[in-house]
Order: sequence, then structure tokens, then C-alpha cells
Amino acid sequence: MQSSRIFIMGSGVVGTATGEGFLAAGHDVTFIDIAPERVRELRKRGLDVRTEIDLTGEPDSLIFLTLPTPNDGHRYDLSAFTAGTAAVGRAIAAAPAHHTVVVRSTVPPGTTESLVRTVLEEQSGRTVGEGFGLASNPEFLRAVSAAEDFAHPWMTVIASRDPQTVERLRTLLSPFGGELRTFADPAEAEFVKCAHNIYNATKISFWNEMWLVAQKLGVDLDPIAATVARSAEGSINPQYGIRGGAPYGGVCLPKDTCGFLGFADTIGVDMPLLSAVVETNDRLAAIVSDEVDTATHAADADQLRARAMAGTHRQQHGPA
Ligand SMILES: NC(=O)c1ccc[n+]([C@@H]2O[C@H](COP(=O)([O-])OP(=O)(O)OC[C@H]3O[C@@H](n4cnc5c(N)ncnc54)[C@H](O)[C@@H]3O)[C@@H](O)[C@H]2O)c1
Repeated sequence: MQSSRIFIMGSGVVGTATGEGFLAAGHDVTFIDIAPERVRELRKRGLDVRTEIDLTGEPDSLIFLTLPTPNDGHRYDLSAFTAGTAAVGRAIAAAPAHHTVVVRSTVPPGTTESLVRTVLEEQSGRTVGEGFGLASNPEFLRAVSAAEDFAHPWMTVIASRDPQTVERLRTLLSPFGGELRTFADPAEAEFVKCAHNIYNATKISFWNEMWLVAQKLGVDLDPIAATVARSAEGSINPQYGIRGGAPYGGVCLPKDTCGFLGFADTIGVDMPLLSAVVETNDRLAAIVSDEVDTATHAADADQLRARAMAGTHRQQHGPA
């Protein structure tokens, strides 16, 4: 395997696990961080840590953005992420080689091709493709087992408009194993990571809401949840329920979601998540039926037009 030159921009939980994982795989890694304490800590571990990224005299490299993207209550706070990206752009401006920037932070869909691309182009004076490469490669590791998760990923997602960049990252990351999926649009990879976390959060809140009901009834939720985890198709079948634009229907799901809401009401338990499930399904059913109506009208109009044309055609050739 050929060794790659790698820079880690932002050397916290994800950056350190990423960089140390690449080091262990035989790559040449430099860590960048602006927090003096973090720099001291990582230097004590014998790592090459710097406070600024400098690409002069460096060969072609991969620069992983593992910068923080906290939320400010209602949205992502991308200020530190933007500042770190701008520093990379300035370093690229002075660099003779071709560098590829890989967004590994969790960011809202579209960030790589809007914010990151714009900041890098403005600060470097170069354009994506010719002047530098750009990709998304979101991280799925868990903080509690960061190094282990990086070394043995169960899913790797790579996205870039440039197929050669995708292949370069595939070569770098596939030796770590696990399933590897590629996308051409970085927004899709960014969406995967956001949906991944939101899905996990939703499942956790679902069982916490059920726990409130179980508490009220005086029953133990654990064996119930463990049984449902093995009985519900949504839990055991990865394909179940993942098609968008397809609300649930039939008898049981509408009946039991609404029925249980009423039951919870009678025992004094508020179930905002279950209410939202019912409301979301109702909204989707209305949207889908509007779309079906529109499509049916369009098809009817097409048929009428076709018949009219056929009529004209027939008239031109005499009555049928
Ligand atoms: N922690 C996790 O379990 C986890 C898992 C997957 C993805 N992520 C995502 O990865 C990203 C990083 O998360 P983290 O947990 O490693 O954050 P972190 O706070 O542990 O690390 C971020 C590091 O970036 C440094 N930094 C800030 N501004 C900088 C700049 N301008 N230049 C250089 N360094 C700078 C900080 O000093 C800090 O050490 C986030 O987008 C997060 O959502 C986190």
C-alpha cells in the first residue's frame, strides 16, 4: 500500500482517532489544532502537532476537516468550521502541489459544495477540480470507542464530483474493512450522516416515551423493548419503512397509533413523539394524495389531448 501525506485539521475526538488510525496504517500524518492544551497533550503522545497548516514544500496531500460543528440551539454553529476551512484555503494559495480537502465533520447537507467550496476558492484564489480536490467522508465513530470504531468501521461513505477523488479515498479507506458506499453528490453523504444521527435519536426518544407509559403502568420496559426489538419488522428488516413518500396505511398502524394516544391520555401520559408520528403520517397522506390527483389530472389531460389529436387526425381523413 502506498503511503499518503495526510493533514488533520481539528485534532479533537474525531481528528485524533482519524489521524492515529491513518498513522497506524502507515501514512504520514500531521495534526493541526488551535487549542494550546490540546496541542500539548498530543505532543506528549509523540504526534506531529502544529498550530497552523503550512503546505509549502509538501507533496500532494489529503486534508481532513475534523473541525467542530456544534449547534447553537436551533442550527449548526459553523463559525469554527469556517475559520478552519479558511485557514486551509490560505495554505492552498501558497502550495505548489495539488491538495484534496475532505469534509469529515458532521455538517448540514450542501455544506461541502456551498460553504466549503466557496471559502476555499476565495481564500486560495484557485478553483475546485483544477486548483484543489474536494470530497465528503463523514465519520460514524462513537466517542466512547473512537479509535476502535475508526480502525474497524461498519460503514464508510465517500462522495465527490470527481471520480478520481472517490477512487483515491476508496484506496485509502477500504483496507479498514466494512461496507463502503460512494456518491457523486457530497450533499447525499452529508445527508446520510445527519439522518444516521437523527434516526438513532428518534429511536432513543421513542423508547424513552414508552418508558414513561411503562412507569405509569408499573411494568418493566426492558423485556418489552427487547421483545419488540426482535418482533417489529421495522427493527428486524432493514428495508422496512425506509421508502420516502409512502405513508403507512392499512388497518393496524393507523388504529393502534391513534388508539394508544387515547389510552395514554386516560392514564395521564403525554406522548408528543407518537402524536407527531400520527400528524406526520396524516400530512404525508395528504401530500401524496394531492400528487396522485395532480398526476391523474395530468394523465387525464394527456389522454384528452391525445383523443383530440386522434379526432383531428380522424377528421382529416374523414369520419371514422
Ligand atoms: N465526537 C464524536 O463522537 C463524533 C462522531 C462522529 C462525528 N463527529 C463530528 O466530527 C466533528 C468534530 O467533532 P469532535 O467531537 O472531534 O470535536 P472536538 O471538539 O473534540 O474537536 C474539535 C477540535 O478542533 C479544534 N479546532 C477548532 N477550531 C480550529 C481551527 N480553526 N483550526 C484547527 N483546529 C481547530 C478544537 O480545538 C478541537 O480540538 C464534528 O462535526 C462532530 O459532529 C463527532
